[in-house]
Amino acid sequence: MAGHAMTDDLVARDRSATGTPVIELVDVGKTYTSGAIEFEALRGIDLRIDQGEYVAIMGPSGSGKSTLMNIIGCLDVLTRGEYRLAGEDVETLDEAELAHIRNRRIGFVFQQFNLLPALSAWHNVELPLIYASVPAAARKERAFAALERVGLDDRTANRPGEMSGGQQQRVAVARALVGDPDLILADEPTGNLDSVSTADVLGLFAELHEAGRTVVLITHEDEVAQHAARIVRVRDGLIQSDGPSDRAVAGGRA
Ligand SMILES: Nc1ncnc2c1ncn2[C@@H]1O[C@H](COP(=O)(O)OP(=O)(O)O)[C@@H](O)[C@H]1O
Ligand SMILES: [Mg+2]
Repeated sequence: MAGHAMTDDLVARDRSATGTPVIELVDVGKTYTSGAIEFEALRGIDLRIDQGEYVAIMGPSGSGKSTLMNIIGCLDVLTRGEYRLAGEDVETLDEAELAHIRNRRIGFVFQQFNLLPALSAWHNVELPLIYASVPAAARKERAFAALERVGLDDRTANRPGEMSGGQQQRVAVARALVGDPDLILADEPTGNLDSVSTADVLGLFAELHEAGRTVVLITHEDEVAQHAARIVRVRDGLIQSDGPSDRAVAGGRA
């Protein structure tokens, strides 16, 4: 297919990519309706992301990035087109199956961290494992290991309010990876962070990518997007361009 030739070329530049599609969107549209007013937030998105790729979705505020992320993450449904996640037609899945996919296959990271304020770091991190019915002792062990991985082994008992923004986002990254998902979906994860914490979080994504995960990083900042191997630029609900990042072109992968 002509449409895939360019994608295959891009995948060849990201040496971690396997050539197996994880995300396949075909002519995806999303229209929000509130009362008599309709708004077309996505207007025909064709996008394929392969296993092991590190892709940034970039665009200005209001361009449809979060709408796209919500569809990719099965948090919202499309109004037209097709979406296959790991080969499965998402349309055909019921709410229980979607919840299962969200919990087992996808690790989410959000701009606002979305941690529960009353819970300690490790209790926040173990949450996805509770939904996955992992026994308590194993949950604790895995939550502590995930916190160690993000460099927070000395903060396991702290609540979010007792930590900096950067630390809270690292807790959120630990929560995203504790269930060992293949796909990490992050929506403006560095939007509330200073430059040091931004570098920390981007370093963690680079490690997750190196370890074989597919990482989709949504951002409005070009500097952040350049950490990915491939940049998909979105504007007014359409893909404007899709190609290797400057870093990938330069051939240097962190
Ligand atoms: N629930 C909603 N109802 C109506 N319009 C929405 C809704 N969510 C987003 N939009 C509109 O869709 C467009 C894209 O929003 P969004 O996907 O959040 O963009 P981005 O994440 O790129 O800032 C914006 O114009 C926004 O106002
Ligand atoms: Mg957004």
